[in-house]
This record gives sequence, C-alpha cells and structure tokens, in this order.
Amino acid sequence: MQSFEAHPARRVAGTMSVPGDKSISHRALMLAGIAEGISEVSGFLASEDCLATLSAMRALGVRIEQVDATRVVIHGVGLRGLRPAGRPLDMGNAGTAMRLFTGLLSAQNFASQLIGDASLMKRPMERVAKPLREMGADVRTHDGTPPVDIGGAKRLRGIDYRMPIASAQVKSAILLAALYAGEPTTVTSPAVSRDHSERMLEGCGVHLSTVALSTTLHPPSRLSALQLNVPGDFSSAAFFIVAGLLAAPAEGLLIQNVGLNPTRTGLLDILRSMGGRIEVRNARLSGAEPVADLCVRPSPLRGIRVPKELVSLAIDELPVLFIAAACAQGETWVTGAEELRVKESDRIAAMSAGLSALNVVHSPLPDGMRIEGRSSEAQSGNVFSAGEVDSCGDHRIAMSFAIASLRAAGPISIRDVANVATSFPGFVGLARSVGLALEAEAAV
Ligand code: S3P
Repeated sequence: MQSFEAHPARRVAGTMSVPGDKSISHRALMLAGIAEGISEVSGFLASEDCLATLSAMRALGVRIEQVDATRVVIHGVGLRGLRPAGRPLDMGNAGTAMRLFTGLLSAQNFASQLIGDASLMKRPMERVAKPLREMGADVRTHDGTPPVDIGGAKRLRGIDYRMPIASAQVKSAILLAALYAGEPTTVTSPAVSRDHSERMLEGCGVHLSTVALSTTLHPPSRLSALQLNVPGDFSSAAFFIVAGLLAAPAEGLLIQNVGLNPTRTGLLDILRSMGGRIEVRNARLSGAEPVADLCVRPSPLRGIRVPKELVSLAIDELPVLFIAAACAQGETWVTGAEELRVKESDRIAAMSAGLSALNVVHSPLPDGMRIEGRSSEAQSGNVFSAGEVDSCGDHRIAMSFAIASLRAAGPISIRDVANVATSFPGFVGLARSVGLALEAEAAV
C-alpha cells in the first residue's frame, strides 16, 4: 500500500500551475462523444477518474485520440451513435463518471452495467436512479448502491424535478438524459451547485434557460463539437492556496490558470473571511469558464462559523479547510455538510481520525466539524504533532494532511494514498517543487 511521508517544511514559494479540472474533463469527453464532428480538448486532466470516462466512451464506440498527456481529440458519434459496450463499464473511483453515465446511458436503446472500485460500490446511486425512473428510464441499483443496471430506453419524458440535495452530479445526470426526452426538463436545486454541464451544453448549442435555482433544458436535435481549453482545477489549487496562506514568503505563492467558476469558489470567500490574503490577477475567460492567476500571501487566520450557503460551493475543499482552521486563532464551525459522509470516504470521520492522531482538538458533528485553532503555536510551527494518519483511500484526505506538514512538529505518515492519482497526477512532484518535503513510499 502506498504512503506519503510528509516532513515538516516551513516555506512554499514560486510560481506553479495545477492540472486540468476534473469535472470539466469528464463532461468534455461525454458531450464531445455525442456531438457531431471533431472536438479538441486541451488542458485535459489525464487522471485515473477521467481516464475511466475516456475508456468507457471508447467502449461505447467513440474514437478518442490522446494526442499527448493533456490533449484529446474526440470523434463525436452524434446523439444516437453510441453502441453497446458488451461488458460492464468500470468507473474506478469516479462518482462523477458513474452518476453522469447513468443519466447518459439510461436514454440509449441498449442495456449497460456500471461498476466501480470498493469505495464507489458503496456510494449512493438512488439519488440519480429515482429521477431517471420518473423520466421513464429502466435504472436499477442494488440496495441503493452499484452495480447500476440500465435497460434500453424507449422514449424518455421530460420532468420537473426538485432535487432534495444540491448535487451537480444528480443535476447533470438528469440534464444528460433530458437531451433525449420528448419534452423539456426542469431541475431545481435547493442551493447552488457547480454549473459546468450547463455552460458546456450551451457551448454545444443546446438551449437552456435558468431562473434562480431552476434550469430547463430544451431537447436539441444535435450537439455541435467543442473546442475547449480546460482550466486548472480549483479543487487541486485549494491545497496550495492553504499552503500559501500558511507558509508563503511575503511576495506570495503564485498559482496560474486556475478555474474560478463562481459555483466552485466558496473556499476563497471562506478563507478571506478568516483573514486570508488571496489576490485574483489577470482574470479572463477560457471559453465559457472564468480563469485567473492567484497570488496567495502568508496570513494569520481566525476561526469563523462558515455560512451554510457557502458549503455546497466548497464541498470538495472542506478537508483542507479543516487544516487551515486548525492553524487559525479561535474556533471554526462547519455545519450543513452532511454530504461529506458519502464522498470517496466518510470525510468527517476520516478527517476527525487524522486530526485526533495529530492532536488537534476538534469535535466531529453529524453534518460537519468544530475545530479549535492553535494559532499561537502556529508561529513556532507546532499546530500538528508528528503522527500517522489513514487517508482511507481518499485522495483529498491524503493531500490535506500533506499540507498539514507545513505546521507539524515532526513527520506525518499518510497511509493509503494511491488514489491521489484519481484527481491529481504529479501532486508529489509539484508539492516538492514549491517547497513541501513530501516523499512517496510504497509500504511493504
Ligand atoms: C462533482 C460534483 C460534486 C463534487 C464532485 C464532483 C461534479 O459532487 O463533490 O467531486 O463533477 O459534478 P455532488 O454532485 O455529489 O455534490
């Protein structure tokens, strides 16, 4: 089992950029695959999760050339051009792939089965199966979890669906199925969730209308091909944003080409209200997505009560926020984040176990965490003790504790880290290049 040894380091500095956005890379492969004509995607994230989507699209009959590590050319087969894979489609660790494919495949006139790794096989899938069944799809889960069995659909109907949770995966699965429905479909969310699907669908010429938290998709006759430059993943940048606040020199750490879609950047608002100095430079558009460079300066942080409305905008960044909160003055409270319980791991339990192992005073809550910051020790570097933590096979838990090494009294051993490759290939090298003393080890 692979592990990290994160030795204490006191400074991160320089200029860096992070790999492409995972959510956008998945969606680009799927939409370009059912578009008409040739799509070109640069800045593609060649991580294990996105490569699972790439293999599945190939198995469904789409020709995809990997020109180099981050550039793919997709020969779209059109809305009705996918073919049966003839075998179960393995989504690996990728919840996004499984949920979005459930939507896309439930509209096809052939049967499919979706499977995944041990973590994914335990994750809830009824959240997508239920609305898809309302559309007339034949989707079966096993006690709510994968394998997901999808029968061939005749004709789906448009629905008006109010999602019980603010999930971009559920919304996107419904919108993908809605491309094939006989009538328009409306999805209403209880809070804002990432809108990459909507932006990209519009880029393919699909007519969507959005009023407040409701989005209506009007079924198109065709999708046009995409020319896309995928921005750096804000969720990957998040680890280095926190690193910069804890340990950058006065001139700051510069992170270039970060996607700043406002439905993703709740962490910026949270860290700024904790006192974080993060400057947005060179703001621009990359196709339909906002992008900028971030200059992160060392900042004394103070604990806050995180406003609930920011939780869905920062859901993937909460593990690393807990690390920042441990280094702040006073208490930080995160509530309304029960979704953390059903991510790649139970992230509240996994972070709580790790924080305990490193002697951080905190209380796990059913829907979040209370963390007692130790800012006075921050100056001397001893917020976290040396110790061993288990990432529980969760990439974001592993990378969060690697960042904690910037304020640790001794080495932090992080176990079960191989899944970092699901979202952030090259994390160790990049972290080392800006100053973290991180070593990857294959444990015997
Ligand atoms: C994602 C949506 C979020 C997020 C996940 C990626 C997406 O999940 O946590 O990492 O690409 O749509 P939910 O839709 O379950 O909130």
